[in-house]
Amino acid sequence: MTDTNKTKKLTSYGDSGFSQFIRKAFNRHLGFDPDDYEKPVIGICNTKSEINRCHSHIQPLIEAIKKGVLLAGGIPLEFPTISLGEINTSPTTMLYRNLAAMDTEEMIRAQPIDGVVLIGGCDKVTPSQLMGAASADIPSIMITGGPMNNGEYEGRTLGACSDCRFFWQEYRGGEIDDNQIEEINEALAPTAGHCMVMGSASTMAVCSEAIGMMLPGGAAIPATENKRLNHAIETGKKIVELVEKELTPSKIITRKSLENGIRALMAVGGSTNAVIHLTAVAGRLGIELPLDLFDQLSRTTPFIANLRPAGQYQMEDFYRAGGTPAVLKELKPLLHLDELTVTGSPLRDSIDDANVPEVYRNIITRFDAPLHTEGGIAVLKGNLAPNGAVIKPKAASQELLKHSGRAVVFSSSQDLEKRIDDPELDISPDDILILQNTGPVGAPGMPEAGMLPIPNKLLKQGVRDMVRISDARMSGTAFGTVILHVAPESAVGGPIGLVKTGDFIELDVENRKLELLVSEEELEKRRSEWEAPVIEGRGYTKLYQECVLQADRGCDFDFLLAATKEKATTN
Ligand code: FES
Repeated sequence: MTDTNKTKKLTSYGDSGFSQFIRKAFNRHLGFDPDDYEKPVIGICNTKSEINRCHSHIQPLIEAIKKGVLLAGGIPLEFPTISLGEINTSPTTMLYRNLAAMDTEEMIRAQPIDGVVLIGGCDKVTPSQLMGAASADIPSIMITGGPMNNGEYEGRTLGACSDCRFFWQEYRGGEIDDNQIEEINEALAPTAGHCMVMGSASTMAVCSEAIGMMLPGGAAIPATENKRLNHAIETGKKIVELVEKELTPSKIITRKSLENGIRALMAVGGSTNAVIHLTAVAGRLGIELPLDLFDQLSRTTPFIANLRPAGQYQMEDFYRAGGTPAVLKELKPLLHLDELTVTGSPLRDSIDDANVPEVYRNIITRFDAPLHTEGGIAVLKGNLAPNGAVIKPKAASQELLKHSGRAVVFSSSQDLEKRIDDPELDISPDDILILQNTGPVGAPGMPEAGMLPIPNKLLKQGVRDMVRISDARMSGTAFGTVILHVAPESAVGGPIGLVKTGDFIELDVENRKLELLVSEEELEKRRSEWEAPVIEGRGYTKLYQECVLQADRGCDFDFLLAATKEKATTN
């Protein structure tokens, strides 16, 4: 065997000749002749799992990738890593994103492969694979399972899972009955694929394309379309070429390509979770992405994709309108077009042929006729969030974006569940709901608890939105005037943990302000009385709580960051 990437990765028996000998003997069973392993060996890192419904259709895609690899002269070998399905993982997939990233990184690094295709689909899978591949840094390419087709109920388009939340709220408010909610339940997630609104899965797929880690157009192709199989075959062919060109993630994921990713995130009104994930991917390559950069790019990126939950349409419609390449083409004046992508060429070449058919201009608008002049996410700061917090203004009630109100505090998710629907709860629509101890350390794992339910007594009065503030996240499919990722979090002594019911809070999204209107003397007094929660977990959870970084730094483990090599400027 020659000294390829894979022969460097010999199992350690203290005798390299023996290691090669025994590998040759055992690998005869993998389906290829020993000499075939001289060709590029491509790992297909897949996260399929019967418990993760967003991966139910992954196997045919894997077979298509294998065809592409073989057609291009490589040897495909599939291997599994942890699967993170949003709906069936307790307490939250975010707790395990870093574990999945470590699994991905270490299996890429440990096994005798020259390149890797990353295939998955649900919210945390894509970022974990990008993080792992960035650290392992062998030629890599991303493909997702693609979004579900639209659902439908009584003539209305349904989207998972913005409508899960919308109709559940209507059901709690008594607007729909048991039969209706059951019929809606049957129609919410009608096909294979991941959630079909611009939630976290769709957003991270769009960002993967914009960063350059996915072939053009891949994010939006519905899971059920033949074109996704074609895309998988092309992905398989392309990874062999990437191996030949030695084009690794560190040559593709740069500060500039990440800025392209942030621009795309803002233009499509994507998930707030992507702020955390992009920061974490960057950290794996020593690139800093401060929250201020996200805000600056949001302020200067037009919001041009009319997609739920911030707009009206869904991924199937986005696909027909031209998908990510069409959005990137509109954003051309703002992008770093020379950045390399997995096509082997600059981003410029990926978007030249993109086109929005006139009939779909209501889905992707022109750059100079946007839905809004600013992007989809705003970063707030103030004495309540010294290191930042985020809000999705386009998915909020516009009249609440500047609001002062009395805080009503819940100390944990358990406290919230116990009291939120208590008829005796002292609450009015102008109050601000605060949820503490739901951050990365406190929960632990920063669950998607940030879209606090509206108290039942207010729902029955017709209230459908209130200002809600927490150190938690929310699903990318969720909506409302919801302020998230408050950093530092309650459990590490952040000011959000010092708020008491009856305090007043001022929110001013236009001026990016989030202030707790309590004197510094009083806050100092509360700080001196504050006691850090005792961390009682064991095993992985304990490791997580001890090593996780705060939301503004991407919630990765401190020991997984690369040494800083590129500081993002906000100029
Ligand atoms: Fe998998 Fe929504 S549950 S993407």
